[in-house]
Amino acid sequence: MSLENPPRVLVLHGPNLNMLGLREPEIYGRTTLADIDAGLVAMGCELRIAVETFQSNHEGELVSKIQEARGRCAALLINAGAYTHTSVALLDAILAAGLPVIEVHLSNLYKREPFRHHSYIARAAVGQICGFGADSYLLGLRAALGVIKKA
Ligand code: DQA
Repeated sequence: MSLENPPRVLVLHGPNLNMLGLREPEIYGRTTLADIDAGLVAMGCELRIAVETFQSNHEGELVSKIQEARGRCAALLINAGAYTHTSVALLDAILAAGLPVIEVHLSNLYKREPFRHHSYIARAAVGQICGFGADSYLLGLRAALGVIKKA
């Protein structure tokens, strides 16, 4: 890890996460996506990580972002939202990108409906962090740094 070129971490947010703050606050809390992104960028400054964030409601856009991260980013932090439970395309993109992936979720998937218990992302991820609300992302960024340092 050189001081001149801090490692770059891509943070991807999937569908409906642009609605955070308004969307089912009893499950997802009142923190907005802009607040989460600002917190990640601030923690990135402390940890000397360049944090890049992107949200999309479209599966193909997320696939393209993952493809573009290949060779450019040191790790990927992803909350794929509902695509977590449905998207073979995202799984394949992650496998093709050859990047370490940390999967994060605001809610604890395993306390929720059975269809949320399966993640296509999980089999390609170094690990999964869920259930800590917005802090899941900050914990995920720390985890990403640990993984990058070991690489
Ligand atoms: C989520 C959990 C998913 O099941 C859901 O579809 C989301 C958000 C979470 O962060 O807890 O959109 O990924």
